[in-house]
Amino acid sequence: MKAANFVSPKHGSVIQITKAEAKRLEQYWAAQPKNKTIKSGGLWLDDSGRHINAHGGGIMRYGDTWYWFGEHKADTTSSAMVGVMCYASKDLVNWRNCGVALYVSDKKGSDIERGCVLERPKVIYNKVTGKFCMWFHLELKGKGYSAARYGVAVSDRPEGPYKFLYSQRANAGTYPIEFGDKELTVLDTMDINHFKEWWTPDWYEAIRQGLFLKRDLGSGQMSRDMTLYIDDDGKAYHIFSSEDNLTLHIAELTNDYLHHSGRYTRVAPGGQNEAPAIFKKDGTYWMITSGCTGWAPNEARMFSAPSIWGPWTQHPNPCRGPKSEITFGGQSTYILPVGEQLIFMADIWRPKHPSDARYIWLPIEFEDGKPVVRWQDEWELSVK
Ligand code: DGJ
Repeated sequence: MKAANFVSPKHGSVIQITKAEAKRLEQYWAAQPKNKTIKSGGLWLDDSGRHINAHGGGIMRYGDTWYWFGEHKADTTSSAMVGVMCYASKDLVNWRNCGVALYVSDKKGSDIERGCVLERPKVIYNKVTGKFCMWFHLELKGKGYSAARYGVAVSDRPEGPYKFLYSQRANAGTYPIEFGDKELTVLDTMDINHFKEWWTPDWYEAIRQGLFLKRDLGSGQMSRDMTLYIDDDGKAYHIFSSEDNLTLHIAELTNDYLHHSGRYTRVAPGGQNEAPAIFKKDGTYWMITSGCTGWAPNEARMFSAPSIWGPWTQHPNPCRGPKSEITFGGQSTYILPVGEQLIFMADIWRPKHPSDARYIWLPIEFEDGKPVVRWQDEWELSVK
């Protein structure tokens, strides 16, 4: 009997249903009234009536369609049991489940072996090669969060299937662009064995000067929470938490968007930022991040810069309204420009029931020239 893939909402595993069952489901949900508004924090049902399972995600526009990629989360573990999900929409409110874009592997020892940690996938389209390029944070199975790698996968079609290419740490053997003779001389004199105790003023100063950067120079820099950004000139950047989540790195990609070019800069050294989300408005780059408190929400941070290479300046928390001191219970993941509208996207994590994690999507307003994210129970998004 012909069968269709179906991700079980109960078990988080891929099961097969008959084509006739799939068609019945499709017809049933096609007949349901369409969503008109965005309601943050609630269940967000896809075209088959299941809560969208695309966490830590990002959105890519291709043609007249938006594609939402995110972590598939299982019911009882935050480890990756399925892979990266893809949903498609023409109005950003009603989403069609396109299934699994990148599957974890059942091959023992594979970098993306089922049970690994695969987080915050983002996809960008390369106009020159015609390829869809997916980057994500990867932790090897059974090794907690110690691998701190990024992974790259590629596809000829937006919804996949994506082919896993490689995973590694970042920019081995390379210093940030701002490191000149002065900074390198300081690094030369630094000995990590002198810093047995963390969080002391001396240790902080050494971190800012590159203590962990030096530690990881040979193996490559740690790469955890991440996003991708394509600038107006077509250059793309990988922005990620590095140096034990103490410092963000912004690394330029090669023209095919599949590797680092070797040029990178550090942002807010020692500032402990995770969950970077970035956009540009009127020539200014804005980045919203979170602090580092695991799955628990904390106060959002905001930075701006006149160039992607900095200098980056920190601003107060952009959130307004109930629970604004903990990002409304969420953690930033992406900022999507839709015409003049900017949408702030965040995840409300549910570590005890990961698949039930919820989404926050709120419009970004500007007050006194600075972005503000105001809570709204419900709002209408018009896609022209
Ligand atoms: C916070 C990160 O932002 C998430 O993506 C995830 O890695 C959790 N930490 C794990 O505790």
